[in-house]
Amino acid sequence: MSRQLFVTTALPYANGKFHIGHIMEYIQADIWVRFQRMQGNQVNFVGADDAHGAPIMIAAEKAGVTPQQFVANIAAGRKEYLDGFQISFDNWSSTDSPENHELARQIYRDLKANDLIDVKTIEQFFDPEKTMFLPDRYIKGTCPKCGTPDQYGDNCENCGAVYAPTDLIKPYSALSGATPVLKSSEHFFFKLSDQRCVDFLQSWTQDGKLQPEVANKVKEWFSVRTNPDGSKSEGLGDWDISRDAPYFGIEIPDAPGKYFYVWLDAPVGYLASLKNLLGKRGEDYNAYMANPALEQYHFIGKDIVTFHTLFWPAMLHFSGRKTPNNVFVHGFLTVNNGEKMSKSRGTGLDPLKYLSLGMNPEWLRYYLAAKLSARNEDIDFNADDFMARVNSDLIGKFVNIASRAAGFLTKRFDGKLSTDFGPQGEELLFEIHGAKDNLANAYEAREFGKATRDIMLLADKVNAYVDQHKPWDLAKDAANNEALHQVCSVLINAFAEISRYLAPVLPSLAQAVQAFVGTSMKHWTVTGYVAAIQPYQHLMQRVTPEQLDALFEPPAPTEVKLIPGGEDIAPAISIDDFTKIDLRIAKIVNCEAVDGSVKLLRLTLDVGEGKTRNVFSGIASAYKPEDLIGKHTVMVANLAPRKMKFGISEGMVLAASHGDEKAQPGIYVLEPLAGAMPGMRVK
Ligand code: 2FM
Ligand code: ZN
Repeated sequence: MSRQLFVTTALPYANGKFHIGHIMEYIQADIWVRFQRMQGNQVNFVGADDAHGAPIMIAAEKAGVTPQQFVANIAAGRKEYLDGFQISFDNWSSTDSPENHELARQIYRDLKANDLIDVKTIEQFFDPEKTMFLPDRYIKGTCPKCGTPDQYGDNCENCGAVYAPTDLIKPYSALSGATPVLKSSEHFFFKLSDQRCVDFLQSWTQDGKLQPEVANKVKEWFSVRTNPDGSKSEGLGDWDISRDAPYFGIEIPDAPGKYFYVWLDAPVGYLASLKNLLGKRGEDYNAYMANPALEQYHFIGKDIVTFHTLFWPAMLHFSGRKTPNNVFVHGFLTVNNGEKMSKSRGTGLDPLKYLSLGMNPEWLRYYLAAKLSARNEDIDFNADDFMARVNSDLIGKFVNIASRAAGFLTKRFDGKLSTDFGPQGEELLFEIHGAKDNLANAYEAREFGKATRDIMLLADKVNAYVDQHKPWDLAKDAANNEALHQVCSVLINAFAEISRYLAPVLPSLAQAVQAFVGTSMKHWTVTGYVAAIQPYQHLMQRVTPEQLDALFEPPAPTEVKLIPGGEDIAPAISIDDFTKIDLRIAKIVNCEAVDGSVKLLRLTLDVGEGKTRNVFSGIASAYKPEDLIGKHTVMVANLAPRKMKFGISEGMVLAASHGDEKAQPGIYVLEPLAGAMPGMRVK
């Protein structure tokens, strides 16, 4: 019986490009989805942009565009990544879609009718200049515990203290700098503390479906919860689901000026994207969802477990909807043992750079598959390990099987294969075929690391068979023709079957193999053997150390955009390079024209050394000497003295100018803000 599956990945905020953490999640889900399709199951695999919320509204404002336009710009960049890494989404939508507005509002109405919505008046910081309530992350101030200035509204980066924004000393709005005022406002709450919710969630989260480590973590939330001020409370708290205008989001029915908090409508976006897809196909969404056999799965990262195991199932259940069959949680991806792929920074491995270097997306798919398990552990992308697994395992053990047999078959046997495999060949093919159920179980359980390991063990066996039967030796004597034909036919059949086992991970390669051997790669198992092959074409290149070096090299200066200053940014330097330059505040104690030079002024500078310095500077076109006397500026104090036509120059004064002086003349000597004293170091 074919299963009906509805599969999603977490919806990325539409305020930035994809980073490698997103791509890892999509590859994980895509492998699983492709496996399911090969099993003959019907899958709808959807994603969408998570469009709403204050950060996106604010980013759009900064960019001078509407939030809708901002989100559309981000969305336009998605395809390149998704196609590039062969992610087979059936649909990509947005949480700002009409489907999502309608569904989110309907779910809310249903929850309200079920008496699970509460209204409470709460006090929050309000920015009087921006006339908006400030999310915690936009409130800064001095830590009440250790006194470090400029700390965020909920915790201190210096001492780790957790507190409420109202505890901050001298709080200020990170948006306007204004001092926020406390203002009260009505907020809508989803009554998670209602006994019905608690009972339902206890059972939903602890009935064995969740990964054990996830279920254990979730269990804690039923007994204690951490309040904004760091104190602990018993049990589940009600969830604040509203935000006041101005907010980019979905308006709450019958509550003008009130919007759903982004996390309320974000997961509804899963359903909305599905509905959008079915709409395009002319299928009925309600009928699809009403199918009791429909299975619903969400792939997510470990940072958003609360939303998906508490709020989301409760929203669905108590609005009379089907709840997810499971939520599959993965860990973070680190790169070269580096820092975690944080959502905002996501540094390390740039997915588009990977593609633009001509690196094969299937290398990454294979590598990640080899590292992934069903547990939500972090995994590390390590360049050496990557090269070893791709070159030694994927290509050395697997891809090479085909090239070792194909030439002989094409040249000697017109590409036709034998079905006489000899006892050893029979046994080998039998064993490979027999692995299908175990491998299917591993894929089903998302134990991709185990699946690839087991597949490589099969490849090892094939290679042992090759080494034992040595087709290259057999080929030397025409008397061995039949044996050669047998051995090569075994190899191609083994290769075809292993390719099928890897097809969820390597979809393009599987396609190429299908063209090569003529048997379908669309289904997990096929009966019958390969009858004939097409001439062999290279299936996959090796990864080179140069490619990996280039991938992790900081962007070359040529990639830096021309800036309005008219000059490209110079190649990157290290902090050590920078600290070699000793910049000091200098007071211009005297300044005069230089006889015989139209360009130069002679400056007498005090850099706090108890003596003055003589510096020539090419700024005569821009300043009259008397205008500079008494001013402070910045100089390079450790530049070796230079002998010039008019005397020795003991340093250099800093001035700005356009890269193209003809196009945009003008020289601007730097002047520090008030308070800087001669001799102070600039760094
Ligand atoms: O954490 C995030 O990046 C969210 N945008 C994920 C949302 S998942 C779903 F709820 F939409
Ligand atoms: Zn502190």
